[in-house]
Amino acid sequence: MNYIREIVALDEKKEEVKITWPIASKSVAHSHGDSYGIIEVLEGKVYENRFDKASGKFLGSLTHSQGEIFHETPDIIHIMGNKSDTVAITYHVYTPPLKMMHHPEYC
Ligand SMILES: [Fe+2]
Repeated sequence: MNYIREIVALDEKKEEVKITWPIASKSVAHSHGDSYGIIEVLEGKVYENRFDKASGKFLGSLTHSQGEIFHETPDIIHIMGNKSDTVAITYHVYTPPLKMMHHPEYC
């Protein structure tokens, strides 16, 4: 199942996105162009698998729970998803606005 992405605010400096992660949903592998992002888990728990964008090396798998804040940087590729048994919701702020790039070779 796919995640649900809602753009909450967008201007020339930033993009705010709320993502709802149904059970068993996940993103494709992607990077974030030149954008830096900060993400808060509003509900539930999400995971991410991280890769170094330059080398392709697997950096690890992380779990982020409700209330946790983490970040995304231009030098990573990652997959995010929900392996838990409840819906998860995350809130993302990117600057500059996101130009996401897919990396299907990591899926
Ligand atoms: Fe991302």
